[in-house]
Amino acid sequence: MNVRRLLRAHLESALAGLAPADQTDKLAEMLVPSQDPKFGDYQINCAMPLGKTLQRPPREVAEEIKSKLSPGELGTVEPIAGPGFINLKLSDAWLAAQLQSAVSDERLNIAPTTTPKSYVVDYSGPNVAKPMHVGHIRSTVIGDAIYRTLKFLGHKVIGDNHLGDWGTQFGMIIYGYKHFLDKAAYEKAPLDELARLYRLVNQLVDYHDSVRELPKLQQKAIGARAAVEQARTAATPGDKKAAQTLKKAESDAATVAQAVVDLEAKLAKIDADPALSKLVQAHPTIGAAALEETAKLHSGDAENLALWEKFKPICREAIEVVYRRLGVTFDETLGESFYHDLLADAANDLEKRGLAKTSDGALCVFLPGQEVPMIVRKKDGAFLYATTDLATIKYRMERWHPDAMLYVVDHRQSLHFEHLFAAAKLWGYETCDFRHLSFGTVLGKDGKPYKTRSGDTVGLMGLLDDAVEQAHKIVSDNDDGKPNGAELDPETRKQVAETVGIGAIKYADLSQNRTSDYEFSYDKMLAMSGNTATYMQYAYARVRSIFRRGGFNAATLRKSGAKIALGTPAERALGVALLRFEEALELSLVDFRPNLLTTYLFDLANAYSTFFEQCPVLKAPSEEIRDSRLLLCDLTARTIRTGLSLLGIDVVEQM
Ligand code: ARG
Repeated sequence: MNVRRLLRAHLESALAGLAPADQTDKLAEMLVPSQDPKFGDYQINCAMPLGKTLQRPPREVAEEIKSKLSPGELGTVEPIAGPGFINLKLSDAWLAAQLQSAVSDERLNIAPTTTPKSYVVDYSGPNVAKPMHVGHIRSTVIGDAIYRTLKFLGHKVIGDNHLGDWGTQFGMIIYGYKHFLDKAAYEKAPLDELARLYRLVNQLVDYHDSVRELPKLQQKAIGARAAVEQARTAATPGDKKAAQTLKKAESDAATVAQAVVDLEAKLAKIDADPALSKLVQAHPTIGAAALEETAKLHSGDAENLALWEKFKPICREAIEVVYRRLGVTFDETLGESFYHDLLADAANDLEKRGLAKTSDGALCVFLPGQEVPMIVRKKDGAFLYATTDLATIKYRMERWHPDAMLYVVDHRQSLHFEHLFAAAKLWGYETCDFRHLSFGTVLGKDGKPYKTRSGDTVGLMGLLDDAVEQAHKIVSDNDDGKPNGAELDPETRKQVAETVGIGAIKYADLSQNRTSDYEFSYDKMLAMSGNTATYMQYAYARVRSIFRRGGFNAATLRKSGAKIALGTPAERALGVALLRFEEALELSLVDFRPNLLTTYLFDLANAYSTFFEQCPVLKAPSEEIRDSRLLLCDLTARTIRTGLSLLGIDVVEQM
């Protein structure tokens, strides 16, 4: 039941003949839930802009809209407020009837869309063979929530994990395997050994890059100091602009000086390590050599291809472990390697159609309004990330003919996707709605990208373990503090902690505005009150406990013929909140923002909390009221459970 949509249809008819036809849609959008239930349940704000267009007093326009509005059994139109706000109040009888029909409906009366579309959702996409880190969680969790919500609303959705399984990291591992393999370690724990090889080669490559970088940086520091001297001489007392220039020069110089210090320290650390510095000396051209290994792999070198085949399942298993723990699945996992054989054709096709031209030896797609072209084949014949993405689009369009393709990838790739989508449209895929659903960075307390104390970006598995461990403490403390003593046995506590810990991490991520950075904090995400999964799970468990304590079976009650009545303001407010679920789902998909669903769940849980404080359930004044309240509790629990499940989060029966 989408109440807002029903009311909106009434508003549209009222606007017909009054507002210019091409504006009706925009004006009707201005029907929103009321900020304050004192005034009503929904509020129409369009009389003000419409008054402006018609050059009539907004209150007069509001009165006219009001006179034409006839929501019928849905409710009543309240007297105009302020400059021209029109408030709508739902009828208690209608509200109760809607809730009643949700009681016996599997889907809580949420109808699948009448205009289903097909979507490809491209999410997670980690580069395998590199350890997965906290940044990957955002794409995985946000993409999974969007996938589930679209599907629940009846769209056709294909979840495609575009794994980075063909990149330069494999050249590094192959180089490492050929030169530094610890055979015994590999036999015992192949993944750990591959990860060690990757880190080692990366470190050695980075050392030589840094050695080359250092003199340039030192030179830059000298220049920056000179600029400071110059600015200082130029600065005469009272000259504000010169003072500013000096300040800027000083700050620039400080930044470069710090970069030199950091780089020197990094090199010194390796120099001080006898084993590492020996390797550094013995492999002076390791960077180029690792790239060479990747190039050989891509050109079909038998040895490297065999090594890649051998490493791939090991690397895959490492990420599957994470997906299993997160409860995330995909319909397809077609990694970059899958498209390798399609790249040459894609580039040739673009060239043949005159969309790509050779410039400086490289094959480029020049895009209207873009300064830099998109390179699809390098001078040396190698293809790029962009070429793979183009071939991927062609493949997906031919196989699934989707209406839309959603890419859940961090904001640093915005330019890539801007180019990619423009090129795809040129290539003939104009009908598809390509969207980059970008997201911000996960930050630590210091405001920098989240890292562990040792300086590594946090490994994802360790992160999940920590969250579950902290959740275990919270669950145990809560259980120990129960008035009649603890209720959970050790095994249940463990299971609850897993669900609460994983839920907390996911919810913390999803409840942020997708495009913002956010600070990672276990304390905040596991708080028992506030906008957290823990609070939502707790509300759910509380309902379940009411049923247990009262000896009621929810399924039996639903079929019992018991009636919902909204006798008090708290019951009514909860009823209104329950009926807004479909609206919230729809809203969360307008711009693919799961945080709008979390906001809804939080509002619902708060409405429930007020209801719970003010309306005794098991000790209700009559059996009818008790049953009605039990039904409201049950609807709340089911709505929370369904909402959380669309976010990929589980509930627990007890906590
Ligand atoms: N593997 C990429 C990375 O880690 C993300 C892939 C995103 N999807 C895509 N079709 N490009 O940066």
